[in-house]
Amino acid sequence: MEGQDTSARGVWGSKVAFILAATGSAIGLGNIWRFPTMVSQNGGAVFVIVYILAVAFIGFTVMLAELTLGRHAQRNPVGAIEYIKPRSPWKLIGYLGIITGVCILSFYAVVAGWAAGYIFKTASGAFKGKLTAEMTTQIFSDFSSNPLLVFLFFGLIMGLTIFIISKGVKKGIENWTKILMPILFLLIVLLAVRALTLPGALKGLTFYLQPDFSKLSGTVILFAVGQAFFSLSLGMGTMITYGSYISKSDNLVSSAGWVSFADTLVALLAGLIIFPTLAFSGQPGNVGGEGLAFQIFPIILSELPGGYIFGILFFTLLTVAALTSTISLLEVPVAYLVDERNWTRKKAVLVIGVVTFIIGIPSALSTGGLEFFTKLKVLSFFALAFGNISLAVGALFICIFVGYIWGVKNALKEVASGNPRFRLRYIWTFSIMFLTPVAILFILYFIKTIAAG
Ligand code: PHE
Repeated sequence: MEGQDTSARGVWGSKVAFILAATGSAIGLGNIWRFPTMVSQNGGAVFVIVYILAVAFIGFTVMLAELTLGRHAQRNPVGAIEYIKPRSPWKLIGYLGIITGVCILSFYAVVAGWAAGYIFKTASGAFKGKLTAEMTTQIFSDFSSNPLLVFLFFGLIMGLTIFIISKGVKKGIENWTKILMPILFLLIVLLAVRALTLPGALKGLTFYLQPDFSKLSGTVILFAVGQAFFSLSLGMGTMITYGSYISKSDNLVSSAGWVSFADTLVALLAGLIIFPTLAFSGQPGNVGGEGLAFQIFPIILSELPGGYIFGILFFTLLTVAALTSTISLLEVPVAYLVDERNWTRKKAVLVIGVVTFIIGIPSALSTGGLEFFTKLKVLSFFALAFGNISLAVGALFICIFVGYIWGVKNALKEVASGNPRFRLRYIWTFSIMFLTPVAILFILYFIKTIAAG
């Protein structure tokens, strides 16, 4: 397959375009919805510290590995592995990634639908006036247990995702992210400033930023590392796929660095909004469940002059941030079907889109819509199984594949194109061959504890 014409696959317009698209994939509900919930349920500041370490040492390592593999092979995850190691079972890593992507998308689009629904909720004036946490919790549970509304917006998100992806890499993904991501960032900073000046903010900050090391446990590490993979879109081939559209003259190291940095910054900022606001509304830090972010943001909005407009803007941008992630999730299976099975882009997008929607039905009904699925906690289960464990397993095999099968030497050669003096090469080599695989094996071991709990 060497030398195959790849011009039909498309490339990013520029390095900045790639960084924005990859950042768009990384930044999403994982930062604003899932990260604060994880912090809240896993000991507060201790989780934050482990998380930052996980991003710096493990996430960055895997991100660079995926981008390098993708750019070298210029193919989807299955094709990339086939290109390097033809007719070998290593291809299964690619298939695992595709299945994981579809399953993540199935619940992710449900939550993205909540965000979209909240644009209209806010616009209807539901969050005007003084709000207590009890009120916002009630509003959230009324909304998320209404099957009609949940399906309407879940369908809308899937429809939009299908529409954008059918347009292809450049027109579809690139143009969207360029304008909207910076606006989201500014709005988050604004909300954080307001949250930090609320009465009682300090108590929330203490929970968020002052570590109590007695809370450190295997579970905390498992969730922190899993969350790092989820938030950075790693372990399922998204970055292999996005990397496959990067030009040979771009610097992969700085790209991986920028994406990791921006993603972490937004997650940390989201926490700066959530925890002071929680404390302000009289709640302890460790509350949560699926709706934490949806219950807390309306409170801060009601404390902001012009909160009505900012509220609409906020949920619009959250929806957009989620969309730049859903399109990256759908792009992986689609790129596979287009590259390897010669499907047309339109057909691939439509078939995978519909299948994903069907898989998502139980999740959509699991926040009160139907008792059976609610009791099974389908959405939480999917988030743990695919948004955490599957990604960790995928990342483990990507490390082993790049570190030992393709080989660090070859990977470094690819990195050198666009970055001839890669100063962190020894650290990266150590991390990809030893540190990251061992860390992942360690956390997978702790899953037993979770299952028992
Ligand atoms: N990183 C995205 C987020 O944080 C979710 C995602 C996971 C996207 C895996 C692609 C692949 O919202």
